[in-house]
Amino acid sequence: MEIVSTRDMLIKACKQGYAVPAFNIHNLETIQVIVETANELKSPVILALTPATVDYAGAEYLLALGKVAAEKYSIPIAMHLDHFQQYQQIKKCIDLGYKSVMIDASLDVFEKNIKKVKEVVCYAHKRGVSVEAELGCLGGIEDDIGAREGVFLLTDPVAATEFIKETEVDSLAVAIGTAHGLYKFEPILDFARLEEIKNKTDIPLVLHGASGVPTESVKKTIKLGICKVNIATELKISFAQGVKDYFNIHPEADDPREYLQHGKEAMKEVVIKKIEMCGSYNKAQ
Ligand code: 13P
Repeated sequence: MEIVSTRDMLIKACKQGYAVPAFNIHNLETIQVIVETANELKSPVILALTPATVDYAGAEYLLALGKVAAEKYSIPIAMHLDHFQQYQQIKKCIDLGYKSVMIDASLDVFEKNIKKVKEVVCYAHKRGVSVEAELGCLGGIEDDIGAREGVFLLTDPVAATEFIKETEVDSLAVAIGTAHGLYKFEPILDFARLEEIKNKTDIPLVLHGASGVPTESVKKTIKLGICKVNIATELKISFAQGVKDYFNIHPEADDPREYLQHGKEAMKEVVIKKIEMCGSYNKAQ
């Protein structure tokens, strides 16, 4: 298979009442864990990369790794630009071959957000690339991008309708009480707001900031219309913990093929749980 856009996989997920997990990747090892596990569970999967990840690993390297994974396995695999803010950077990645992008102008005022999204949609749709945007503002920081501490602005359902109509965006990230990173307290999600947004709109809805949200709460958001769930922090923590545990027992270790393997194994357990939470296993066909 080839790398696919997220458009059709999310429409299918919406119709069938599950969500596709979008896992943030950083390097070869994190990509391997995600695609191997998704393949074992026959789940469609989205590999998400932020601008900071592109700075770290390079857009070309990451795309090449994703392409190898897509050829190797017969599950749908998408590579998705996560929280990109610069039109020129998005355009460059689309020209390289990325098929799914998020333009995050959620910190701008409504009209400016619309303007920026429209510009990206115009370039992307001509090239068969799907576009996600965000309306409202999540708490927390994702790779340096995000609101000031304590700032949340939940998505207004009426504004969401207008936003989608104006921008013709393919999917919408909604702010209903989640935040990026881990929570100091259990988050209170605004399920009624999500239900209202779902009733007023007809495109796939996306939940960001799923790390640390109780499984049952995420499942409830999926029942109410979420069909893409973003997970980053819990993967980073599990990978790092696996490596730390290994070094605690083997402080002399110096072979990355050994210690990284332990990070991969720890991260795999989280990937399995999140695929189960999303209900996306056996949905690859
Ligand atoms: P977490 O780091 O909270 O899982 O959020 C991930 C995310 O929303 C990526 O866009």
